[in-house]
Amino acid sequence: MAVIALKAPDIEVTVVDMNAARIAEWNSDQLPVYEPGLDEVVRATRGRNLRFTTDVEGGIREADIIFVAVNTPTKTYGIGAGRAADLRYIEAVARTISRVAVGPKIIVEKSTIPVKTSETIKDIFAANGVGGNFQVLSNPEFLAEGTAVADLFSPDRVLIGGERTPEGEKAVETLASVYARWVPRDRIITTNLWSAELSKLVANAFLAQRISSINSISALCEATGADVDEVSRAIGRDSRVGPKFLKASVGFGGSCFQKDILNLVYLCEKFGLGDVAAYWESVVKMNDWQKRRFAAQIIGSLYNTAADKRVAILGFAFKKDTNDTRESAAISICRDLLAEQAHVVVYDPRVPASLIHSDVLGAGKRDARLTVAQTPYEAAEGAHVVAIVTEWDEFRSLDYARIFALMAKPALFFDGRNIVDLAALRRIGFRVHGIGKPNDA
Ligand code: UDX
Repeated sequence: MAVIALKAPDIEVTVVDMNAARIAEWNSDQLPVYEPGLDEVVRATRGRNLRFTTDVEGGIREADIIFVAVNTPTKTYGIGAGRAADLRYIEAVARTISRVAVGPKIIVEKSTIPVKTSETIKDIFAANGVGGNFQVLSNPEFLAEGTAVADLFSPDRVLIGGERTPEGEKAVETLASVYARWVPRDRIITTNLWSAELSKLVANAFLAQRISSINSISALCEATGADVDEVSRAIGRDSRVGPKFLKASVGFGGSCFQKDILNLVYLCEKFGLGDVAAYWESVVKMNDWQKRRFAAQIIGSLYNTAADKRVAILGFAFKKDTNDTRESAAISICRDLLAEQAHVVVYDPRVPASLIHSDVLGAGKRDARLTVAQTPYEAAEGAHVVAIVTEWDEFRSLDYARIFALMAKPALFFDGRNIVDLAALRRIGFRVHGIGKPNDA
């Protein structure tokens, strides 16, 4: 919304949320989300044509276009638990809109949702006697965290799905004209509603599948002496495959990939497509396996005796340049190490200590074996293992000789992101381990 406000100064953008603390943060100098370039965009637009307010009903009443961007977490209960999306927030918004909105409105689904959700929204509108006035569009967001502002400034594509009726087409064109202020027209794709809703899930499933595929091969590389980065480079040069998203890792994290694939799996099951469901579910299973494998290798390198040894974890966010930790591989790695009674010391440049504790242990819980360090050197002090879990740029150029000197010996180094020069570390004296690399440990 901040980027729309920046690129379309003639459009008034109002962001509403019931959560007053959150809105206060958006109105302060300390934004609740760390995202490169976002501060500048908000500073340039806030108070001009961008407003943050808790007046949800007022915002709905005044708007011509309403973007629905609420949470759609995985259901934790009942039918579809662990897979299906929990749509209660979407439904609550639809009910609020039908209660307070007057006059024609375009309702845009921005949240990632299962196919046919717009049907639910439309049904609620119709049952409340306001259906005729409203057009529902699907406009899934493809930005990635850490590069959100750059992705929004020049998206590969903007996808808008709408009803194939004259009113639907008109609504699609209205929304397209907003993006057309800065996105070339040939990058604005229009489809029917169901294609737009499904495309978002499928896009994420395909991206995650590439990571699971290369991660499965990383294990084979370690077994055979091949180097996974060399394999990636070789296959990525095939223009039919392409070079991106083939970086082997400790496993993908983030709020989208796992959730969206499980959603897709649930949809397939619901439509009786068991084999299709199993096919996509294996992408998530491979990812779980890769995360567990990394922790198991650390424990193996400690002669299978991690108890009371210190393991330093560098990076806790699910990727660099974000303070988001949802589904981060670091969470399961820390838990596996704690289960072996290791002392786990985490350092992350952006994630607060309280979040690290609650992610690993549960809200409000503490464990003396889990601590958070202020610097990577503090984390490495007395550690038997130092492991990179997030690819923060600062980890590429740490003083590794100093880290080596601080550690217990043998000093084991695990690079879960293949970002450091393992040969150089080996020369310092470390026993090194990369993902899909010829390894010493
Ligand atoms: C993803 C999609 O990229 C985006 O289009 C969609 O809108 C939301 O979901 P995001 O989760 O923010 O975005 O981050 P992304 O860059 O896709 O990374 C996801 C995870 O995959 C991270 O943990 C990342 O470290 C990992 N990853 C990515 C790899 O392990 N290897 C790669 O080659 C690429």
